[in-house]
Amino acid sequence: MEDKTVIITTLNEAWAAPNTVIDLFLESFRRDALISCALFSSWGYNFVFTDADIMWFRDPFPRFFLDADFQIACDQFSGNSSDVQNRPNGGFNYVKSSKRSIEFYKFWYSSRETYPGYHDQDVLNFIKFDPLIERLGLKMRFLDTAFFGGICEPSKDLNLVCTMHANCCFGLDNKLHDLRIMLEDWKTFLSLPPTLKRSLSMSWRVPQNCSLNSVHQYDSPEKSDQQTLHR
Ligand SMILES: *[C@@H]1O[C@H](CO)[C@@H](O)[C@H](O)[C@H]1NC(C)=O
Ligand SMILES: *[C@@H]1O[C@H](CO)[C@@H](O)[C@H](O)[C@H]1NC(C)=O
Repeated sequence: MEDKTVIITTLNEAWAAPNTVIDLFLESFRRDALISCALFSSWGYNFVFTDADIMWFRDPFPRFFLDADFQIACDQFSGNSSDVQNRPNGGFNYVKSSKRSIEFYKFWYSSRETYPGYHDQDVLNFIKFDPLIERLGLKMRFLDTAFFGGICEPSKDLNLVCTMHANCCFGLDNKLHDLRIMLEDWKTFLSLPPTLKRSLSMSWRVPQNCSLNSVHQYDSPEKSDQQTLHR
């Protein structure tokens, strides 16, 4: 984007195979999430990191906090975007380039040595309480699932949703199944006339094959679907 913001995703071979996660991601992204961004930045590159199993339905930028350095989606949202007790999900975050965010990333990255064997998301859950973050002056915000939802805690109102993550979901086939349902639901919603969009309070048909109960199974390894290990 013009303000030097890049959108990054990553995928493994299984996710890149034809007709799988990346195709659904691109379909959601191309279809609706028209991005317009006009923020000013005097530093390096800002970025949105998004897992590829996140459907982008609306431009998320209007929902981001203008003054935060680091903002991250949540599996469960406490209702308070400043509350570090929130359960962040490393699959979606927006980071503005600043001295503070650069120092924060250095700290996060080096903390992997303090917590060996843990994933980046788990390490974040340890270090989010660290006084160093306050000393850095880093402004961290947790994004409301009303806008940035997922299987763990779906966005209730389709009039508000920006993204939906196939989190709380293990196994590529289960994930693909529910991602396709999400896209279908979204298309159904878009086809409604405006008055019905507002009045019908349509909800998602997911989870179906994904499971809400899988939220705490952070350590069940699946070779073909490595990215879900901590998501
Ligand atoms: C939100 O959380 C912050 C940080 O824990 C706290 O200072 C603030 O009072 C909370 N706000 C509300 C409305 O509870
Ligand atoms: C999804 O769940 C249904 C019902 O349990 C099952 O019949 C179907 O095979 C599952 N689909 C996938 C892709 O796993």
